[in-house]
Amino acid sequence: PRHLLGIEHLSPEDIHSVLDLAEQYVELNRRTVKKTDALAGMTQINMFFENSTRTQSSFELAGKRLGADVMNMSMQTSSVKKGETLIDTALTLNAMHPDLLVVRHGSSGAVDLLAQKVECAVINAGDGKHEHPTQALLDALTIRRAKGRLHRLTVAICGDVAHSRVARSNLILLGKMENRVRLIAPPTLMPSGVAEFGCEVYDDMRAGLKDADVVMMLRLQRERMDGGFIPSEREYFHRYGLDAEKLAFAKDDAIVMHPGPMNRGVEIDGTIADDINRSVIQEQVEMGVAVRMAVMDLLARNLRAERGRALTGETY
Ligand code: CP
Repeated sequence: PRHLLGIEHLSPEDIHSVLDLAEQYVELNRRTVKKTDALAGMTQINMFFENSTRTQSSFELAGKRLGADVMNMSMQTSSVKKGETLIDTALTLNAMHPDLLVVRHGSSGAVDLLAQKVECAVINAGDGKHEHPTQALLDALTIRRAKGRLHRLTVAICGDVAHSRVARSNLILLGKMENRVRLIAPPTLMPSGVAEFGCEVYDDMRAGLKDADVVMMLRLQRERMDGGFIPSEREYFHRYGLDAEKLAFAKDDAIVMHPGPMNRGVEIDGTIADDINRSVIQEQVEMGVAVRMAVMDLLARNLRAERGRALTGETY
């Protein structure tokens, strides 16, 4: 494919191919000299219409380590603020012949729409409540390295499932790899229809965490709770925050994950987040750079092949 818009378009073989290539980039990133020329001569533009620390910085580093020319659009100072639409912004940048566009947007489906209007590869860096595919891939790599496999695991995804694109992409990926996925959330933060994904649904942390191999916590996304139910932080932590007492229901060797940014004392106790025997949160960040290098490397290969076929008059 030309784009990476969501996990739903990937097969289990595609997922393992990305993770296998990412393993090579993990090794490269641990060296003093980290540069390759996989994207040499290519132009990458990052367009983040929503705030980001991890995703934007890791895409920028990934592109630079692959040898691309990387431009970060400052959406706060762009002509979007004068009323220019997403599509007009994309068409304007498209006219400058980028090869890769990395896009984060607050509206579900916005990145798919943009991908239909441009001639380069588009990577979804998170669109509304829809998908965050590179997050699910980096989580998968973290799990595969910690557990030695990516199948037949019990994975508990806990917290604000309703507003989480991370939960949705992980649910799809982990289901494709034949894992047992449990969603744990207060009834008001559990979207309807999730059972269609073949997962188990819980509103009690202790029952949902029982014998889990992986505990994935989610941020309480207050900015997406427009006027609806907003739980008090103290009550939320009491019932759904991960602390030592609740974690004891999971397997003794269960790993603790969080995509970040974390609300310490709201969805996770700071001592659990910092416990290097249980928490793989910093490994997730490290895997993020490697996975994004692998994704961009593979899409660049596809783009070169597509353009090569176009030059020789082949149809595709
Ligand atoms: N996990 C994640 O997407 O973090 P950022 O919002 O900081 O990019």
